[in-house]
Amino acid sequence: MSADTPTPKFTGVLGWIDHRLPVISLGYKELVAYPTPKNLNYFWNFGSLAGIFLVIQIVTGIVLVMHYVPHADYAFASVEHIMRNVNYGWLMRYMHMNGAHMFFVVVYIHIFRGLYYGSYKDPREVLWILGVIILILMMATAFMGYVLPWGQMSFWGATVITNLFSAVPLIGDALVTWMWGGFSVDNPTLQRFFSLHYLFPFVIAAFSFLHLVALHQFGSNNPVGIDITNKDKISFHPYYTTKDLFGLFAILLVYGFLVFFAPNFLGHPDNYIPADPLVTPAHIVPEWYFLPFYAILRSITFDISLFGFTLIDAKLGGVIAMFGSILILFFLPWLDTSKVRSANYRPIYFWAFWLLVVDVIVLTYVGAKPAEGIWPTVGLIATIWYFVHFLVLLPLLGRFERPRPVPDSINKPVLPKASPLGPQTQPAE
Ligand code: HEM
Repeated sequence: MSADTPTPKFTGVLGWIDHRLPVISLGYKELVAYPTPKNLNYFWNFGSLAGIFLVIQIVTGIVLVMHYVPHADYAFASVEHIMRNVNYGWLMRYMHMNGAHMFFVVVYIHIFRGLYYGSYKDPREVLWILGVIILILMMATAFMGYVLPWGQMSFWGATVITNLFSAVPLIGDALVTWMWGGFSVDNPTLQRFFSLHYLFPFVIAAFSFLHLVALHQFGSNNPVGIDITNKDKISFHPYYTTKDLFGLFAILLVYGFLVFFAPNFLGHPDNYIPADPLVTPAHIVPEWYFLPFYAILRSITFDISLFGFTLIDAKLGGVIAMFGSILILFFLPWLDTSKVRSANYRPIYFWAFWLLVVDVIVLTYVGAKPAEGIWPTVGLIATIWYFVHFLVLLPLLGRFERPRPVPDSINKPVLPKASPLGPQTQPAE
C-alpha cells in the first residue's frame, strides 16, 4: 500500500453516514492512509503510547471516582476501602497510580526524542508549543492527584508546593490563601484539587487532539530530519499500526510488572500514613518525575542583591528558576538557531544533547537527596548547565557548529554504497 492510497468511497450504512457526517473518510484519511515517513524508528512509538496512557488514566480514574470520597475526613479511608473491599478496586488504583508513572516515562522519552531529532523546528513550532502546554497540564494534574489520597506526602507535598506562590511579590500571601480556600491546606483545598484533577485530563485530551492536527499539517519529522516527499512515505496502516502495537505490548510488560509485582515501588511509604498537619515527615520528596524541577527550585540558596539591596530573595529566585526551566521550552524553536534538525548530523549538538540527558539525571538524583552537604552545590552546577544549554549553547551552536553533510534522500544513510539499487535510488514498491 503506497502513501498515495486514495480514500475509498464507503457504501451501505457506512456510506450513508459518511455522506452526512464525513468522519469515517476523515478517520481513514488521517489514520489509515496517512502518509508517514518510511524510516521512523521506535522512538516514534511514544506519541501513540502517551495517548494510550492518557486513555488508561481517564478510564481507571472514572472507575475510582465511583468509590472515592473527596473530603478530608473520608478521603484516606475511602482509598483503603477501594483497596480492600471494592471488587478489583486494588487493580484500578494500582493501574491508575502506576499509569501516571508510565505516562511520564513515555512523555519524557517523547520529549527527548523531539530534542534529539529537532522535531520542534520550523514548521513544527506550534506542534511543539502544544506539547509544552500538555506537559504543564500533566504536571498540574499529577500534582493535584497525588493530594487526593490525603496521606502524609499528599498533605505536606501540597503544603510545600502551594507555599511557593507566597514568594510572588506583593500578592503572594493573598494568592496562597485564595488557592487553599482557607488559611492552610485543608478540606476546601482537597475538594478544589479533586475538581480540577477530574477536569484536566479532558483538557489534555483536547490539546492532544490539536497536537495531532498540527502534526498532520506537515507530517512527522524523521530520523534524518530532512523534508521528504510522498515517494518516501508509506501509509500509516498497516505499517505503523503494527509497529505501534508491538511497542504497546513491550511497554505493557513493564507496566504489568509494576502493577502486579511492585505496585508501590515508585511511591513513598509515608503516603500510607493518614495526613497529619501536626507531624511533618523527615524528608518531603515529590514523585520522581518532579525531582529535576524540585532540585532546580532548591538550588537557589542565596539572595540576588545590588548595592546591598535585595532584588530577588532566595525563595523567589528558586521559584523563578523552577518555572523558568519549564517555560524556556516554549522558546526552544527560536533558541535553537541551527537549520539542521537531526542530531545525527550535528557533531557538537550530539554531545550537548547527551550532556543535557546526564544533567537532568543528576538533577533528578539531587532532587531526591536532602538539601545538605555537597548536594546544593551539585544542584546549583546542574541548574546552571541546564540554562546554559538552552540560553547560550543552542543559540551559539547554530552559528559556529559545522554540521555534517545532510543526505538529500532518506535512503542514503540506509542503503550500502555497493547496493545494486545505488545509494539514492528507490527500492521497488
Ligand atoms: C498527552 C501527551 C501527548 C500525546 C498523547 C502526544 C501524542 C503525539 C503523537 C501521537 C505524535 C505522533 C507520533 C510520534 O511522533 O511519536 C506526537 C508527535 C509529537 N509530539 Fe507529542 N504527545 C504528547 C505530549 C507531547 C509533549 C509534552 C511534547 C513536547 C513538549 C510533544 C511534542 C511532540 C512533537 C515535537 C511531535 C512531532 C514529532 C516528529 O514528528 O518528529 N508531545 N505526539
